[in-house]
Amino acid sequence: MRRALPLLGALVLLAGCGTGGKAPSTADPANGKKLFLSSNAQCAACHVLADAGSKGTVGPNLDDAFAGDRAQGFKESRIENVVLDQIREANPPMPKNLVSGAKRRDVAAYVAATAAKPGKDTGLLASAVAAPGAGKPAVEKAGKLSIAANAAGQLAYETNKAAATAGPVTVEMPNMSGVGHNLALETGEGAATPKGTKIGATPIISKGVAKVSVTLKPGTYTFFCEVPGHRQAGMYGTLTVK
Ligand code: HEC
Repeated sequence: MRRALPLLGALVLLAGCGTGGKAPSTADPANGKKLFLSSNAQCAACHVLADAGSKGTVGPNLDDAFAGDRAQGFKESRIENVVLDQIREANPPMPKNLVSGAKRRDVAAYVAATAAKPGKDTGLLASAVAAPGAGKPAVEKAGKLSIAANAAGQLAYETNKAAATAGPVTVEMPNMSGVGHNLALETGEGAATPKGTKIGATPIISKGVAKVSVTLKPGTYTFFCEVPGHRQAGMYGTLTVK
């Protein structure tokens, strides 16, 4: 794994020869946040970043990765450059150039603005992305429960809470995003990592409505997306059955 500190040494050299030293001033971190959480850039699927609420564990925790730099008072522009370089020069399994051009700068500016920084977003960052799953809880009616995938392509459902009465239920997942998702159910309270027993799953679809019929008992279940990385990125919630 490439750690941030040796890289910073390399960046000082780069700055000296005038190729990578200056952080762009036009970057839009709010757009970077959207991209970070999107299924195009997929950063959230592989990385923990508290600000984004992401829980991916394929790559290093980005708050930890930049905690030392932050503590030593490094400028945000330096962290931004580390992230820019990482996106360009990534090693497998992180694909190179997941985002490029202005989008790459936006993502780097977002990570630089938030990694290892406690506290809540303010200003534009706060309104950039609805918190994943912040929609109204889904409630079962007459044996039907509908939990939609985020229409904007965020790795999330529109809600992370659902309620149903025990018995046979058809769970529907409308997905208008164009990104492949499904909805699976397992026993136990909503969590980013598997804990319980799977009781059913819809097919994976990128547009339309996927369905699965299950018989629910009183208790809590996790609903989650089985496309690799999506659950870790935050695409899960809790179904309470009474
Ligand atoms: C498929 C999983 C995957 C995706 C998607 C991914 N990364 Fe990574 N990332 C990794 C892995 C694994 C590493 C560690 C190996 C390396 O350094 O190349 C890493 C390393 C990093 C590092 C260096 C952290 C350190 O310890 O210095 C940064 C910064 C980073 N990624 C940012 C991003 C950003 C921003 C995105 C989205 C544009 C992204 N990653 C997408 C897997 C991923």
